[in-house]
Amino acid sequence: MPDRTVSILFVCLGNICRSPLVEAVARQRCKNAGLDVAFASCGTGHWHVGKGADPRMVRAAAALGYDLSPHRARQFASSDFTRHDWVLAMDNDNLQSLVSAHRGQGVEPQPFLPWAGLSSPHEFPDPYYGDAGGFAQAVALAERAADGLVARLRHD
Ligand code: 4NP
Repeated sequence: MPDRTVSILFVCLGNICRSPLVEAVARQRCKNAGLDVAFASCGTGHWHVGKGADPRMVRAAAALGYDLSPHRARQFASSDFTRHDWVLAMDNDNLQSLVSAHRGQGVEPQPFLPWAGLSSPHEFPDPYYGDAGGFAQAVALAERAADGLVARLRHD
């Protein structure tokens, strides 16, 4: 870890399910681990800008003690590449959108789960079109990935 605060941006499609969840879980796990990290999230899509997290995601996260109620969705901007140390995409489609938006300025976008040390799954499944079980699974995966993130940042 460098002396200054590291900044990590999580990116999904709508910024109402996966990336706000991962942001909240990672923030809590890093706080518990005593790591000084700033977290943010956004979406590659514009549809939900200004809205709160999906109520199904809010409920599943709250069941395990993560508060998503302050979240408001925003869309990725190319300036994010120079405002964060890591720009981490939840899946290949969103990574591809970021790669297309990257014009050689700032950090290269990376796939989140492999970055956090998970070999499987490679992509963070989108719970948006599924049932409540998918949201609970998303929280469990976010916790697993956040543990990998803490281990990686401790090592850096
Ligand atoms: P997220 O999930 O990318 O994890 O926030 C989605 C949210 C909204 C939509 C798709 C995925 N949508 O099509 O509106």
